[in-house]
Amino acid sequence: MATAFIKIAAIYLLIGISLGIYMGIVEEFEYTPVHAHINLLGWATTGLFGVIYHVLPEAGNSKLGKAHFWLHNIGSFLVLFGMILFVNGEEGLAFPVALTGALAVVAATLVFIVNLFKNAKETQPRRRQE
Ligand code: HEM
Ligand code: HEM
Repeated sequence: MATAFIKIAAIYLLIGISLGIYMGIVEEFEYTPVHAHINLLGWATTGLFGVIYHVLPEAGNSKLGKAHFWLHNIGSFLVLFGMILFVNGEEGLAFPVALTGALAVVAATLVFIVNLFKNAKETQPRRRQE
């Protein structure tokens, strides 16, 4: 799943920095928490999972790695969507959406931890090709 995590993280980065530039140009900052979490949860955290799974391929290629990918991404999307609803004044709907997303992200993190402890193996340093 390493590549999938890294690819989706790059898409989050594009959306996150585009929103950042837009906020700067129009000088309206109410979407700052959305921007911050697209970049930090979407790009930084998701990308880091990708790099970790590249370093620990047994964990990355396991069923738990796949479950982690879907839970984390569905959860992150719901957190971000909930934050957008919140900024738009839809508090009633924002709360359950964001909470469901946040619980999914926490569940994904638990899956990540179990996956690491169960499947991560020390990788041998690669020999240089002569
Ligand atoms: C082209 C790239 C980017 C632009 C133009 C941009 C723009 C902005 C703007 C205009 C704000 C609001 C500042 C304010 O409210 O005073 C902001 C806040 C923030 N940005 Fe970015 N940003 C960019 C990239 C990133 C990246 C890559 C990350 C993280 C990996 C990031 C993380 C944050 C965070 C955490 C905040 C909230 C800071 C706070 O709480 O005061 N940004 N950004
Ligand atoms: C389930 C995942 C997460 C949830 C539900 C969540 C929720 C929140 C909430 C409710 C705030 C306050 C926003 C406000 O004051 O307007 C916040 C702020 C912040 N969070 Fe998160 N967060 C999550 C994950 C993360 C992660 C993974 C990072 C860093 C890697 C992070 C970094 C920050 C930062 C830097 C701020 C301050 C940004 C700002 O000024 O808007 N969060 N978060």
